[in-house]
Amino acid sequence: MFKSIKRKFKKLLQLIGYWLVDLGKPDSPFSKTNLSFDTYIRLAKEASNEKYDEIDSYEALLGFKVDKSWLDELALHTQIVIKDSKLCYAHGRVLYSSLSSYLTNLNQKNVDEEITILETGTARGYSAICMAKALKDNGFGGKILTFDLIPNEKKMFWNCIDDQDGAKTRLELLNPWKELLDEHIIFIEGDTRHTLKSCSLGRVNFAFLDGAHTYEDVMFEFFQIKDKQLEGDVIVYDDYSNNLFPGIVKAVDHICKEYKYERKDIFAADNRAYVIATKK
Ligand SMILES: C[S@@+](CC[C@H](N)C(=O)[O-])C[C@H]1O[C@@H](n2cnc3c(N)ncnc32)[C@H](O)[C@@H]1O
Repeated sequence: MFKSIKRKFKKLLQLIGYWLVDLGKPDSPFSKTNLSFDTYIRLAKEASNEKYDEIDSYEALLGFKVDKSWLDELALHTQIVIKDSKLCYAHGRVLYSSLSSYLTNLNQKNVDEEITILETGTARGYSAICMAKALKDNGFGGKILTFDLIPNEKKMFWNCIDDQDGAKTRLELLNPWKELLDEHIIFIEGDTRHTLKSCSLGRVNFAFLDGAHTYEDVMFEFFQIKDKQLEGDVIVYDDYSNNLFPGIVKAVDHICKEYKYERKDIFAADNRAYVIATKK
């Protein structure tokens, strides 16, 4: 009798827990836009024509460069949005080149095992797909675990050109890249403060920490992976900008100095810079 009441009480607590978690999930974090198709194409062309000298040099130095028309098409659906700041999707180039170079180094050491990539901040899926493309182009197997509060299978508007077709799930939005998704990407929904802890991972070869932009969150995410990286493993950071995200700057500086990561800083445009941190 007592056991049965205890079981029912536990079940009730569990249901309340699920309900609270659901309440915390964003319904539709992006607003619907009503721009014309032509306006999106114009914005996409302007963003595509932007020159980033430091990224050109970085690609030349590493010897890897993502196919521009492939990137522009992906960006049209996942990066060309209405926002106050200037559109810039050059982080896809940085991720592609950095990961390709990392994979080539593994190849030279005759390592051909599957690798694990971790990303916080999936958003519409742009950066995860750029990394999946690097895996495919370099003939590597591997999984990209990408974490976000935004659900994968809930129809919503994405503040992008696809909104003209009605609400879509993230999987529907990314259907043209389904092959890369199926082969390499695992979407994990929820707050990284909980989900990262509940994922038991081995080595994290390569990471892109692009979720919450506070000092505490970046440090928390770093602490979840720091003991899972070996010499040569990489973490990439976006939005290294003191004006906009002082918390990221403070966290990245602290991580590189205190936890022995060699850093390469790349400046793309005003207020847009990346840090590629390689474990020493
Ligand atoms: C800057 S965007 C990521 C952009 C994406 N990497 C790209 O290249 O398109 C940040 C994302 O992090 C997610 N995010 C913020 N805080 C989070 C948290 N605590 N847990 C999970 N996701 C979070 C947001 O929902 C948002 O989609």
